Amino acid sequence: MSEKKKELRSRHWYGGTHKDGFIHRSWMKNQGFPDHVFDGRPIIGICNTWSELTPCNSHLRILAEGVKRGVWEAGGFPVEFPVSSLGETQMRPTAMLFRNLLAMDVEEAIRAYGIDGVVLLGGCDKTTPGQLMGAASVDLPTIVVSSGPMLNGKWKGKDIGSGTDVWKFSEAVRAGEMSLQEFMAAESGMSRSPGVCMTMGTATTMASVVEAMGLSLPTNAALPAVDARRMALSHMTGKRIVEMVHEDLRLSKILTRKNFENGIIANAAVGGSTNAVVHMLAIAGRAGVDLCLEDFDRVGGQVPCIVNCMPSGKYLIEDLAYAGGLPAVMNRIQHLLHADAPTVVGVPIAKYWEGAEVYNDDVIRPLDNPLRAAAGIRVLKGNLAPNGAVIKPSAASEHLLSHEGPAYVFETIEDLKAKIDDPDLPVTEDTILVLKGCGPKGYPGMAEVGNMPIPRRLVEKGVRDMVRISDARMSGTAFGTVVLHVSPEANAGGPLAIVKTGDRIRLDAMKGELNLLISEEELAARMAAWQPPEMKWQRGYYKLYHDTVLQADKGADLDFLVGKSGDEVLRESH
Ligand code: FES
Ligand code: MG
Repeated sequence: MSEKKKELRSRHWYGGTHKDGFIHRSWMKNQGFPDHVFDGRPIIGICNTWSELTPCNSHLRILAEGVKRGVWEAGGFPVEFPVSSLGETQMRPTAMLFRNLLAMDVEEAIRAYGIDGVVLLGGCDKTTPGQLMGAASVDLPTIVVSSGPMLNGKWKGKDIGSGTDVWKFSEAVRAGEMSLQEFMAAESGMSRSPGVCMTMGTATTMASVVEAMGLSLPTNAALPAVDARRMALSHMTGKRIVEMVHEDLRLSKILTRKNFENGIIANAAVGGSTNAVVHMLAIAGRAGVDLCLEDFDRVGGQVPCIVNCMPSGKYLIEDLAYAGGLPAVMNRIQHLLHADAPTVVGVPIAKYWEGAEVYNDDVIRPLDNPLRAAAGIRVLKGNLAPNGAVIKPSAASEHLLSHEGPAYVFETIEDLKAKIDDPDLPVTEDTILVLKGCGPKGYPGMAEVGNMPIPRRLVEKGVRDMVRISDARMSGTAFGTVVLHVSPEANAGGPLAIVKTGDRIRLDAMKGELNLLISEEELAARMAAWQPPEMKWQRGYYKLYHDTVLQADKGADLDFLVGKSGDEVLRESH
């Protein structure tokens, strides 16, 4: 109880009898708050990425009400505030361009307002990492409530999955196996409730990583958005954040190396998105944890994928929730996890999986029958990716994981779109498709275009996978033998820039190798002759981003945002 009397940060705003205290309180009172809510109780900010343009987060004002109930119940004072929101499926050129902008928004809002703790409400791919990056740079007590997945997609009596089935259907239309009418009809059945993509895309990947890192309450990752238990979880989270403020349990105490390693292991076990690599590296950069690309290989490479969800498997996240969710998954892989890693609950993470049962062994596989034995993201290096590239073996074709073939190069995304359906494109199923100019600087924003469509002439022959290499990312819902995040990117002068059509490339995913089979002299000569492309963005955020963005192997944060500044604000506003 004595801890309760410790002066809270919010007292600097709302505690004084001076002019500034008058100003801070009086204007808040215009919302009908009585005197006693300013009595020194913890003020909890609910950082909300609600937006009608982020359909995955469109229900977050409802969940915020659940959080508020819990905050009031525990004797806190909840205040909900908006930050920018990144609608993955709605923003151009790519929501990833704005992840760092959201992180700046979140960081500055948390610091500038007189709050003692934060609940991060988010879910769509970029909102979770953006919020955590910003929050880590301030380091208040912080806890996450995720959006939760949409209900399973349904069409023609079957389950269909966000993203994954879009890629499949659009290839089926191109192959003449699905009519345009059917394609249009499927669209209504795919997204039929609030929530995030209900495949193991980046949203549920990041929610799974968050839960395994102990940054949310247990069961947060998989409960459907509209399940009443997610509202109850929001309520319980509101209660817990008030206690966390009393305990001074700050985000930095949860963002330890062990927690990151647990996140990497969970990502492999759920068959999570390659995007988790970039996001976790960026969060670690904010938190001052020395995480590197190789850690994903070293820590996660041998972890089995046991969650049978699209795109690696066949079920959807609603099924994962009913099969036991992340607590049951963690229970199965507990021997791999750091059981003593700290959590927002204040107990070791082992408590999250204690007694958790699996209710469907086909959705959450036993260890002796995994979906893929060594499923973690593999890091590739070689003269084509000196600083690394990644591939997700669980979503790839086994026979292509070791492959040598001639390159066919698309210089830009426009080049690809213009040529991919050309019936005379000189490619075979052994060709390696190479795409340039889609990295952080190039696109800009490192778009999810790495899973290039299969050339039409090959789709028509039944080819469904080829080796594809680029400096882009791919959607967490996508699949294929796709090498991503090549670093340095082409537009930063990486060797990807000098690959020519006809060059031979060798990929050996399990050995972690990616090489352009030309002589060192030829490589050096081409690199010397390379000219950086003209920079199209001369002002605004695009320019700031282009000029300061780090490469993918460093998390693609802006260079001056790495690290933290804490919660102190030196000056009053009046
Ligand atoms: Fe928002 Fe997939 S588009 S989670
Ligand atoms: Mg995405």
